[in-house]
Amino acid sequence: MGKTIIISNRLPVQLQISNGTITATPSVGGLATGMKSVHSGSESLWIGWSGLTDEETPPELEDDIDKALAEQGCAKVNLNAQEIDGFYFGFSNRTVWPLFHYFLEYSEFELDFWETYKSVNQKFADAIIEQSDEDDTIWVHDYQLMLVPQMVREKRPNTTIGFFLHIPFPSYEIFRTLPWRKEVLEGLLGSDLIGFHTYDYERHFLSSVRRLLGLDVSFNDVYLDNRVIKVDSFPMGIDYKKFKDAAIMHDSKKSKERSDLQMRLDNHKASAPDTKLILSIDRLDYSKGIAKRLNAFEYFLKKYPEFKEKVRLIILAVPSRSNVPQYQLLKKEIDELVGRINGELSTVNWTPIWYFYRSLPFESLIDLYTSSDIAWLTPLRDGMNLVAKEYIATRTDQTGVLILSEMAGSAYEMNEALLINPNNFEEQADTLKQAFYMPVEEQISRNSFLQKRLERYNVEVWANEFMNALNEKRDIGKAFISEKMSDKILSDIQDSYVSAKKRLLFLDYDGTLAGFHKDPQKASPDDDLYELLDELSGQENTTLFLISGRDKQTFGRWFLPKKYNMIVEHGVWISKEGHDFKMLEQVKGEWMEKIRPVLESFVDRTPGSFIEEKNYSLAWHYRNTDPDFGEKRATELNTVLRSLIGNDDISVLNGNKVMEVKNSNVNKGRAALRMLGEDDYDFVFAIGDDWTDEFMFQDLPNSAVTVKVGLQKTQAKYHVESTKKVRELLKRFI
Ligand code: ADP
Ligand code: G6P
Repeated sequence: MGKTIIISNRLPVQLQISNGTITATPSVGGLATGMKSVHSGSESLWIGWSGLTDEETPPELEDDIDKALAEQGCAKVNLNAQEIDGFYFGFSNRTVWPLFHYFLEYSEFELDFWETYKSVNQKFADAIIEQSDEDDTIWVHDYQLMLVPQMVREKRPNTTIGFFLHIPFPSYEIFRTLPWRKEVLEGLLGSDLIGFHTYDYERHFLSSVRRLLGLDVSFNDVYLDNRVIKVDSFPMGIDYKKFKDAAIMHDSKKSKERSDLQMRLDNHKASAPDTKLILSIDRLDYSKGIAKRLNAFEYFLKKYPEFKEKVRLIILAVPSRSNVPQYQLLKKEIDELVGRINGELSTVNWTPIWYFYRSLPFESLIDLYTSSDIAWLTPLRDGMNLVAKEYIATRTDQTGVLILSEMAGSAYEMNEALLINPNNFEEQADTLKQAFYMPVEEQISRNSFLQKRLERYNVEVWANEFMNALNEKRDIGKAFISEKMSDKILSDIQDSYVSAKKRLLFLDYDGTLAGFHKDPQKASPDDDLYELLDELSGQENTTLFLISGRDKQTFGRWFLPKKYNMIVEHGVWISKEGHDFKMLEQVKGEWMEKIRPVLESFVDRTPGSFIEEKNYSLAWHYRNTDPDFGEKRATELNTVLRSLIGNDDISVLNGNKVMEVKNSNVNKGRAALRMLGEDDYDFVFAIGDDWTDEFMFQDLPNSAVTVKVGLQKTQAKYHVESTKKVRELLKRFI
């Protein structure tokens, strides 16, 4: 197995050049801090942007830069200032970031941004191709590189590619406003596995895939041409040990060894032992709800004035994306808010807010985490929020209270925290009060649960789970559920066909010989198909059956004049050599009167669905409904029908976007077996695409050649991808 290639816009370090020398500082943000731990413990290569534009890179330092990065297992993609503008500040952070965080009004749909995003994604894809081998595993990260999986797939169809989105995936209603929504989805679907932090993001993505691309989704598998893409949620963890060990080390430091920041924090504690420190740390980003938090803090102090001089809020805002206008406005807003609140509420002894606008070294973060009694994190939307997890990990004595927004992905796993709605000031004021008075035993009890979970599901476990799922996906892909019809298999089948003395063929119609149509009556056979069937059924020693769930009227109209053999309605009726249909199975139809009104009520309540009446079965079709809604209704109908039919000899078949109620003793397998018993066949072939064909695949003898159309799980031996391939296959028999 090859190596792992990690690819993201940010590398774990950012380079700067001052006075002709290169300096590297650690990157901030959840992606870089999380993946850094994964990268350092493995043999991976991390490809990304160095933080310097081409214009900022003196040519004579190129080699040194490459060397400095190579030492950290990294390689860079060169981007010029114009590319950074359109790709990073533009499409990534003025279009996708606001849209995916539900700030629709901030999202700019600029064609120029999009064009640059595409070309820069292509650059990243090219860098992967250049620096990786066919058997390497590619792991692409985040919203800046959503087109990369497809771009790599085009050149390396068999490479294993995973993608992880570190930010929320918005609901369909939001996502569909993006002019390039289809291209983005198609870009992502170049992957074998797509990971999200939470099940909700996964669900939103799958819903967009179904509605916008019209692809089939079964549980969390997406079916696209000849591939199955797996979609799953993997909530990202932190390097728990690193934070815990740093906190233990911090606690053991003698006062002389303490940092200036820590000494200032210690002095504060010593001078006012009954006061509490409330901490918030975020990148300066509108999604983090910093301005609202400041307003909520002011509200809290007005509602509960007894906390004046008793609490202090430390706000650490890390500079971020400062070329984007919204971030500049936010910076101004926060500067003003802090100034105003401090100006209005400060006393001689007390400033309510300490505000830092800078990036601090890791040790200072630990100082802040370990010294704060309360962490208050109020994002309006956040893919995960690792700061919440880091705070808990540093609480070595298990005290401390975490107040966390429900809108953060981490809230799903941190139920023991005090969860709040960041828009509800009343609730936040009360929760701050609750946090202030929370008994130590309660703090310990809540945090010990949280710590256990964070320790167990740390970033290493997270990465392993993702990689295991990706590898599993690759192995399944290889061993597929049924074997892909290769040229070799095809010629072997062709040989046995030619040498056979008596052949029996069962061909399903819809989804096999012909594609689906919105109106089933319009999916009539084309001339090519007639020609193919004429030739096949005209061969000597060959018995061909069209075998279908269709009604006998339609098939009679299409095929009786051609004198093809037909089995219809799943095996109720048979017609041979142009003779009228005869009953193959004795079936009763009284139940239909009972079931029809039920189906009708579902038609009324499910726009786009309709009933197909056959002689001995009723089918409810929902191909033309809203896909999510249709599936939901199908599940509901299934439950209703099962409770109605009880032990009667009636069964419900879940086909391809159709549910059919019919007599249990009728199915294609039984019908095929009866035909098989009529002569001594030495070549048996069956092909079909849906659930109802599985009866044939299952019941026919092992020696039969059974072929599934599509990639769903099957009992058939082989699979082909499309109706086009079916025809190519059948042409080999003539
Ligand atoms: P986001 O990814 O949106 O920035 P997260 O909370 O998931 O938000 O991740 C932030 C990461 O950045 C954390 O790992 C945190 O430790 C780190 N970080 C935050 N503030 C600073 C800072 N001032 N200096 C260095 N690292 C920081
Ligand atoms: C979030 C994103 C990351 C990004 C980080 C910092 O965590 O998910 O992809 O790297 O913020 O943002 P920046 O724009 O500085 O890379």
